[in-house]
Amino acid sequence: MTIDNLFTKKQQQVLNQELNNRHWKLMINYGAVRAGKTFVDNFVFLYEVKHAAEIARSKKVKYPMYILAGVSSKSIANNILNEIANTFGLTFKFDKHNSFKIKFPGLPAVKIVQTFTGSISGLGAIRGMTSFGAYINEASLANKEVFEEIRSRCSTPGARVVCDTNPDVPTHWLKTDYIDNPKHSSEIISNHFTMDDNTVLDPEYVAGQKSTTPSGMFYDRKILGLWVAGEGLVYQDFDKSKNLITRAEFDKRTADQTLNYYCGVDWGYEHDTSLVVLADDNQGNTYLVEEHTGNLQQIDHWVSVAKQIQQDYGYNIPFYCDTARVEHIDEFQANHINALYAYKAVLKGIEIVAGKIKQRQFMAVQEGMQQFLNEVYQYVWNDKTGEPVKEHDHVMDAVRYAIATKLWNQNNKQSDNSYNDQTKLLADNGLIDYPDDFW
Ligand SMILES: Nc1ncnc2c1ncn2[C@@H]1O[C@H](COP(=O)(O)OP(=O)(O)OP(=O)(O)O)[C@@H](O)[C@H]1O
Ligand SMILES: [Mg+2]
Repeated sequence: MTIDNLFTKKQQQVLNQELNNRHWKLMINYGAVRAGKTFVDNFVFLYEVKHAAEIARSKKVKYPMYILAGVSSKSIANNILNEIANTFGLTFKFDKHNSFKIKFPGLPAVKIVQTFTGSISGLGAIRGMTSFGAYINEASLANKEVFEEIRSRCSTPGARVVCDTNPDVPTHWLKTDYIDNPKHSSEIISNHFTMDDNTVLDPEYVAGQKSTTPSGMFYDRKILGLWVAGEGLVYQDFDKSKNLITRAEFDKRTADQTLNYYCGVDWGYEHDTSLVVLADDNQGNTYLVEEHTGNLQQIDHWVSVAKQIQQDYGYNIPFYCDTARVEHIDEFQANHINALYAYKAVLKGIEIVAGKIKQRQFMAVQEGMQQFLNEVYQYVWNDKTGEPVKEHDHVMDAVRYAIATKLWNQNNKQSDNSYNDQTKLLADNGLIDYPDDFW
């Protein structure tokens, strides 16, 4: 077995830097999903721990420490520890602070201290510590202060920091301050990975990812590994000739299907409220069948719209609602409408809807629409925030709440009908805030 068989070309480049270049102090491996970054970084991590042990021995330090950082304990376990256990057959013995030791023959054991970069509280675990190096997984998701503190803890001569990350907006601090390396320092190196760089992946899987990932920002980040912000239309794969159908066509397509109906609601008063009805068939298609949009209406009006929808589609039809106006959700529930908290992660939700649009698994029924088409052609990215401009977005939001929450529930095998279970699951995962009356 040679190194060529074990690693992709891109990974060999990284290992070459690891083994033959002793000048760098920060290595950032960034790029596409499934590109092979973490796989090679886990090798680099073990080399670095060995390197740390060698420095410690030369300095007669008996108990060297090394920082292992990730967004949360779960992400460190999933992305790094489980992978290392699988790849190298290593097992770790954790102490009560979740630290563990790695020992190479003839060298002092290195204590690996875990720290979580997702919030400023991660500082606590490493404050005051002197580290012989650090490995930071998913660095773009790190709190900047925690990232900088980790770097400054690695003050021992020869100590180095390795990180991997998926790209974010081009104005992200990791890109502007480190990858772009404005000081042209030879201490910072970075490597760009694309999905095609991972030649171990099944070509069919790669082709599938390319054909289903929405065009624009999602494709550029996930497949090409580029630091880009959204530009232009959010749903740029939307094509009227393929994503818009007549009621007659809808009836024909769904004649022998059992349809599963559900709703999405975006609240407004001065701005529009939008309430949409969708139907899923059993082949993965989603139809937007009705849209009710309007402003300056009291909640009673929307209760009566919802009551009519219950009559048409079934009493228990779920309404996935914008959580910005909890009192409206309460009002729906008080009127025996199955109103539920919607999944709120904007980009993830958009990606799900955009993916369906690209795959022509999303179709709007022309006769049922009011503002949908208007909005879809005006719904654009804000390149400063990395999210859509908050205009012409009411139907867009209602559709996103419906589709994303439904899918999220399915993936988490939740019943659609239980307010408490669903709310708890979403809140436990940080996707919504716990409602005031929840406990
Ligand atoms: N050289 C290799 N030999 C065998 N399997 C590999 C190799 N490189 C990568 N893989 C496998 O390919 C898949 C993707 O690799 P990896 O998890 O390293 O990607 P990543 O760039 O970290 O992706 P993400 O951005 O999604 O975290 C994993 O299942 C990994 O085990
Ligand atoms: Mg990874």
